[in-house]
Amino acid sequence: MGTAEERAIAVIMVGGPTKGTRFRPLSFDIPKPLFPLAGQPMVHHPISACKRIPNLAQIYLIGFHEEREFALFVSSVSNELKVPIKYLKEDKPHGSAGGLYSFRDQIMEDDPSHIFLLNCDVCCSFPLPEMLDAHRKYGGMGTILVVKVSPESASEFGELVADPVTNELLHYIEKPETFVSDLINCGVYIFTPDIFTAIEGVTTQQKNRANLRRVSSFEAMQPDTRNLSSDYVRLDQDILSPLAGKKQLYIYETKDFWEQIKTPGMSIKCSALYLSQFRPISPQLLANGDGIKKASISGDVYIHPSAKVHPTAKIGPGVSISANARIGAGARLINCIILDDAEIKENAVVIHAIVGWKSSIGRWARIQASGDYNAKLGVTLLGESVIVEDEVVVVNSIVLPHKTLNVRVQDEILL
Ligand code: GDD
Repeated sequence: MGTAEERAIAVIMVGGPTKGTRFRPLSFDIPKPLFPLAGQPMVHHPISACKRIPNLAQIYLIGFHEEREFALFVSSVSNELKVPIKYLKEDKPHGSAGGLYSFRDQIMEDDPSHIFLLNCDVCCSFPLPEMLDAHRKYGGMGTILVVKVSPESASEFGELVADPVTNELLHYIEKPETFVSDLINCGVYIFTPDIFTAIEGVTTQQKNRANLRRVSSFEAMQPDTRNLSSDYVRLDQDILSPLAGKKQLYIYETKDFWEQIKTPGMSIKCSALYLSQFRPISPQLLANGDGIKKASISGDVYIHPSAKVHPTAKIGPGVSISANARIGAGARLINCIILDDAEIKENAVVIHAIVGWKSSIGRWARIQASGDYNAKLGVTLLGESVIVEDEVVVVNSIVLPHKTLNVRVQDEILL
């Protein structure tokens, strides 16, 4: 437990509309951090994990999405969890460390001893209190949550090397071209307020470089240096890399699940992972967990209370059904996300797919995919208000909003 004078602040980086482009077409209709996983907005999961932080004074979401897009969510989650939560809007992207730095005065108002910093697009069990214990023991400026992944996938992340005895971060390289290590950065950190001094050091260096550049007319002509903004600071390349090996950063390894949510396919996988988390912690959120049998349920399934599911439908595992959706008699749903107001008519089948808001799937239609969550067409995605007529089959395809499909579609992107 924390001592009386300790106080923590949590900051969740939510990016903005120019980020999350791999999440299209779903991010056309809703900011990616608000896309529902296991029936709750993506960012709700790290927020509820923050509730377990001792002496938590405030949670900030920092991003450059429009404030109004987050207003309703922030007030409802703040009431639900009884934690003060605020959305702070950057006027432009400042990078993952620059965004934090731009609100340093506000963050320091509560005089925190610890600042938890979380990416919004990671899915894990967020072992924050355990990380805090380790962080206190190490006594450094920062502790990074890390996980072992397969050597083939490591290059998609920040790879790192740590001292096996002290856990000190010795070497850090962001998305390297050649393999360094299968230990990677999970995008979850604890820092002391000294992180602001480190970021300030980088912005000062960048300002000095920019001033020098101004006097060099040749450099000023170069396209990659012309638009460099001195307050744009990346946490990984600009802070973690140079501080590695200086006894300031340490790692805490999780052996639990961890995934990054960059694509719609991964959102189906992560939705199922969060559903499986509900079973031991909040079984009342699962269909059948409250004892009310609405249909034939297998495995972990979330059904919003306002959704109407026919008792002869067969649902699960890994299914999440949002508000006001209607699932007809004999429908079969496996590993999928059905968004608000969608309708799945009688005897339709949906497997490894996301059915968009207000979409309608006809009788005996099949919406399916291979379930390779990393492949571009490994899941089938229907955008908002797509109509799939009776008996039509859609396989491994992405369908943009407002289309009507009356013939079979396979391995296609329909714009
Ligand atoms: N507010 C704000 N402003 N947020 C930002 C900005 C910004 O300018 N830029 C990025 N973010 C947020 C993103 O929304 C995301 O939550 C987080 O910061 C990291 O995004 P990126 O900087 O795009 O990095 P990444 O996701 O490709 O990789 C990072 O996370 C991986 C773990 O998921 C790196 O730190 C990797 O090393 C790490 O493995």
